[in-house]
Amino acid sequence: MEEESADAAKPDHLKPASKGKKGCFRRVCSFFSMAAHILAISFVSYMIYLAWPFSSLFSWHPVLMSIAFALLMTEAILFFSPDSNLVPKATRKMKVTYHWITNTTAVLCALAGLAIIVVNKERYGKPHFTSWHGLCGICTVVYTCLQATAGSTLLYPKLTAGLAKPADLKLYHATSGLVLFTLACTTLTLGLFTNWFWSTAHGTAWYFCIATVAWLSLVIMNQVTQAYLPKSLKKPSQQY
Ligand code: HEM
Repeated sequence: MEEESADAAKPDHLKPASKGKKGCFRRVCSFFSMAAHILAISFVSYMIYLAWPFSSLFSWHPVLMSIAFALLMTEAILFFSPDSNLVPKATRKMKVTYHWITNTTAVLCALAGLAIIVVNKERYGKPHFTSWHGLCGICTVVYTCLQATAGSTLLYPKLTAGLAKPADLKLYHATSGLVLFTLACTTLTLGLFTNWFWSTAHGTAWYFCIATVAWLSLVIMNQVTQAYLPKSLKKPSQQY
């Protein structure tokens, strides 16, 4: 409530993106964002169901990777969604804290998921990073670590003061985060084409999983572009 009255006092170009959205478009965006939470949880639940009872080391890989990217990274970005987020009453500062804690947990899950698949392949003497999924996957994990490291510098503005304007750094972080999320979604999609998934998943569930990944990437793309693109087109550098 406090945040809303504060927004009302701001000039148009400083108001959150959703405040400018009108009627139908706003409702559609809210519906898409709300559904994203449910779909992300359903996706992870389905992976756990497929991997159950975790009798092989491999079964942890898809579960940990889905938790890292489909659930945690999605929610970490959605904290800033003006359409639907899990902490609507939180201040911007609190959202930033939730964002980095959730993303750090995602990085830890991704590293654990990577370690498991590498050890599992070593066990069976199989070569590494030979499939498109494996190649894209290693790029995603490395990029995730770089993004998290670079993002953590935003928490200490004095460190980066001489480098660029804070507003520009935030724009670069958001843009790079969007590229990373798209890469993660591509890797998830490629994971759905692996022999393990084809042989374990049930009929139409495959379509549900593909649709979920597409849905999540559209919602995040829409959120980031709506938040940054209009402002960066109007007045670069001094807007955020
Ligand atoms: C964004 C999330 C994911 C990342 C970053 C990722 C990463 C990787 C990497 C790096 C490898 C290769 C390891 C090596 O060659 O030593 C791999 C293999 C594998 N992953 Fe994933 N993975 C993800 C999600 C998934 C999902 C959701 C599934 C199943 C639905 C899956 C199934 C597999 C399978 C079956 C392999 C072994 C075959 C292969 O190398 O292609 N992965 N993953």
